[in-house]
Amino acid sequence: MKKNVEVRKYRSSVGAVKGVCSGIGAALFGGDCFELVSELPTASVDLVITSPPYCIGMEYERARTVEDFFTAHRRLLPEIIRVTKPGGSICWQVGYHVSKRVAYPLDYAIFSILEGNDQVALRNRIIWSFAHGLHNGARFDGRHETLLWYTKGNDYFFDLDAVRVPQKYPGKRHYKGPAKGEFSGNPLGKNPGDVWDIPNVKGNHIEKVGHPCQFPVALVQRLVRALSSAGGIVLDPYMGAGSAGVSRA
Ligand SMILES: C[S@@+](CC[C@H](N)C(=O)[O-])C[C@H]1O[C@@H](n2cnc3c(N)ncnc32)[C@H](O)[C@@H]1O
Repeated sequence: MKKNVEVRKYRSSVGAVKGVCSGIGAALFGGDCFELVSELPTASVDLVITSPPYCIGMEYERARTVEDFFTAHRRLLPEIIRVTKPGGSICWQVGYHVSKRVAYPLDYAIFSILEGNDQVALRNRIIWSFAHGLHNGARFDGRHETLLWYTKGNDYFFDLDAVRVPQKYPGKRHYKGPAKGEFSGNPLGKNPGDVWDIPNVKGNHIEKVGHPCQFPVALVQRLVRALSSAGGIVLDPYMGAGSAGVSRA
């Protein structure tokens, strides 16, 4: 945990939001996120970024079936939209439910629920690829998950310069035409695109704290930097190990 992040536990979620507003780096609410979100003020959050429980059918999961996953999200997503500020963003990261070697892409559930909702618009379906995971003999190994980025409205915050990555050929210049001699790429770097290769937090990963499905900080950090301004409020309703809470820096 970074030194400038003060974590407090609130019994009231409204208190948590006020705490963040008054300059505390992060506030934790211990409880059911449905309860938390329904108590939050309307249009109070700049960015929602989360990964809901999606290991459907596992002993520790409430959702036993894909339909349970749909039901939980039909209930939660309208509240998430309500608490998001106009111009804010909602990022939902999920994987696949695989049963008897049949794969179900869970972002389809999120997309289906939000399709036709004129308050939000899908901006990107980001592919998060990584090297480690279960080994399969009867299918190709699953080495990616997805993240849906929605904005609330069309006039939204997006700071691309905050997340540019190095150009492949940084010194390349135009060799003809009116811009001859000038850099052909943006000297600040290029757009990172919508395929993100970021190591997942497995085994001996330096960020591993024992949670089975931690976000790597780099994944959340790119979204926090691009989709919320300094001082903006970021909400992770399924915070798990707390990666989102330490990703502002
Ligand atoms: C997929 S993990 C998210 C991990 C998180 N992104 C991280 O970096 O650690 C889902 C988390 O949500 C928690 N969870 C499940 N149901 C919840 C609920 N109703 N309210 C709040 N958290 C819940 C689980 O315990 C788990 O830690």
